[in-house]
Amino acid sequence: MSIDRGRVLSPGRVNLLGEHVDYNDGVVLPAAIDRYVGIHFHRTTDSNVTLYARDLGEECSFDPRQLANKTALDGSPLPGWALYPAGVIWNLLNYDLQVEGFSADFHSDIPIGAGLSSSAAVEVGFAVVCEALGGWQLDRMTLARICQEAEREYVGVNCGLMDQFACACGVADHVVMLDTRSLFYRPVPLPPDTGIVIADSTLRRALVNSAYNERRQDCDRAVAHFQNIDPSIRALRDLTPEWFYTAEKDLPPDVYKHALHVVEEIARVNEAIQLLEQNDAQGFGRLMLETHRSLRDLYEVSLPELDILVESAAGLEGCLGARLTGAGFGGCTVNLVQKDHINSFIERLGVIYTAKTGLQAQIFATKPSNGAYLS
Ligand code: GLA
Repeated sequence: MSIDRGRVLSPGRVNLLGEHVDYNDGVVLPAAIDRYVGIHFHRTTDSNVTLYARDLGEECSFDPRQLANKTALDGSPLPGWALYPAGVIWNLLNYDLQVEGFSADFHSDIPIGAGLSSSAAVEVGFAVVCEALGGWQLDRMTLARICQEAEREYVGVNCGLMDQFACACGVADHVVMLDTRSLFYRPVPLPPDTGIVIADSTLRRALVNSAYNERRQDCDRAVAHFQNIDPSIRALRDLTPEWFYTAEKDLPPDVYKHALHVVEEIARVNEAIQLLEQNDAQGFGRLMLETHRSLRDLYEVSLPELDILVESAAGLEGCLGARLTGAGFGGCTVNLVQKDHINSFIERLGVIYTAKTGLQAQIFATKPSNGAYLS
């Protein structure tokens, strides 16, 4: 059944563990958060799409069937923000799904470019809009994969599936474990009496997308090395850390360091899932801190300000774990905090961060939420 107008809420996500492993066939542990892209939409009488990005005060119209050149109706290049919804529409049409003409007004309370997947929230949100107007229905995993493909092929970021998956398949009050090889997923509760706190450093580094693509190429180069030895190796997932260590002298130092993070992170997530099942919040938090060190020293995607947030958080009462979340190069840290201490944690972390950096972090508690929905 199709509808003519409505509102879609599409959440951002935070990743608790398993960073930069989703394009290496690893397991990730993200949660959708209670910050959203909200899209008001209505069907129009023609077949064009008009979008108003309320936060930017910008509008853009395009013909869904003329998107290959990434141009608006007036022939000008689509603005950067419009590539995400346009890419999704372009890809839905590639799958022969009906896309109706519509007009939409959207805004977001997910901090932009902060590692909380505001772009995946836009993509998944517009896929749900098209679904509601088009009268078709896709399972959420397929929807997430179409959006991921759009980001890779239309926007040009060679991302994994985690962000679109979390925005589409999030489960209230849970993190969702996703095996990015088999695509098996299941919700896992947070340890009892703990909550998630996000701290936005407010720093954004330029060229995140190209740095991201470069890291990914390093992973592929490491895989190619092992494929020469054993052609059945498909991804870094197929290597044990012990086997990987043997390649140190054969790989360029940067490639070795970057891939080492991935191999050890994949092993860490396996351990973390067992700890979660045993309600071992301390143990899980310890692994979060290890992940941060690895992202800082091996994968080299941290910034001094993020390190300050993590180190300061780790010293505060009630903090079980802290680390940067998402691609890195600025953005946010995620913290696992004992519920009773959340308010004091937020207050004190903010004071310390300002004292050490002169910057004002945006720090807030978040509740794991459901994936995108028509509201
Ligand atoms: C970005 C990508 C994801 C994932 C993370 C790092 O958010 O979109 O696919 O690779 O970085 O874990």
